[in-house]
Amino acid sequence: MSVDRPTLSVRNLEKKVALGRETIHILRGVSFDLGHGEMVALMGPSGSGKSTLLGIVSGLDSPTAGEVILDGDDIGRLSERHLSSLRARKVGMVFQSYNLIPTLTALENVQLPLYVPGRNGHDPERAAQLLSDVGLGHRLGHRPSQLSGGEQQRVAVARALVSDPPLLVADEPTGNLDTETGAALVSLLLDLRKRHGTTILVATHNNDVAHLADRVLRMRDGRLVTS
Ligand SMILES: Nc1ncnc2c1ncn2[C@@H]1O[C@H](COP(=O)(O)OP(=O)(O)OP(=O)(O)O)[C@@H](O)[C@H]1O
Ligand SMILES: [Mg+2]
Repeated sequence: MSVDRPTLSVRNLEKKVALGRETIHILRGVSFDLGHGEMVALMGPSGSGKSTLLGIVSGLDSPTAGEVILDGDDIGRLSERHLSSLRARKVGMVFQSYNLIPTLTALENVQLPLYVPGRNGHDPERAAQLLSDVGLGHRLGHRPSQLSGGEQQRVAVARALVSDPPLLVADEPTGNLDTETGAALVSLLLDLRKRHGTTILVATHNNDVAHLADRVLRMRDGRLVTS
């Protein structure tokens, strides 16, 4: 991984969706770069296109036009099979609603991204280390229902980092947390960024999160705006 090259380059991204006779233009030419180890907040009103943008840069959704270069790979040009393997190696994802598997323990949930072709499927030592890094070394055997919201989100962060991806994408990660727990989660992200060199893109409505970021990207009606 080159330190000079941006971790993520987005160029002229467009997303249109046909809905009945109408075409909804969700992204209207979005371009930006994220440097290695940057933490950038993505803000903007509800419906401005933040989640759509995050879905495309993580390879979950495809753009109508434009380029996404993630750690040197043009993800718009990959087949579905290559895309899913790239996604597993290069992007960690955290969502507002944690998305843990209820029947699995914290230790098992963290190892889930390792169950993909090319990985041996488990690495309990690494998962335990990451859970300890997020302050949950004493909760390895707990299931999601036995954890608080803040703890579940920390398990989700550990899971997002298990493949040591260059990019962590978080969609309103503090949206379901109280102010104090949310602040603790953000300082955890900053600490992990320092230790792992992970680049972080976080969509948020929370000004406290934005204040801690290196930079804020603001969206309005599918475009990035300067103020
Ligand atoms: N698959 C789809 N089909 C039609 N419209 C869609 C689709 N996905 C998103 N949209 C529309 O695109 C716009 C942007 O949605 P998006 O979820 O990206 O916004 P957001 O900025 O994340 O909003 P919020 O802050 O509420 O999470 C919205 O108007 C939404 O209704
Ligand atoms: Mg959203």
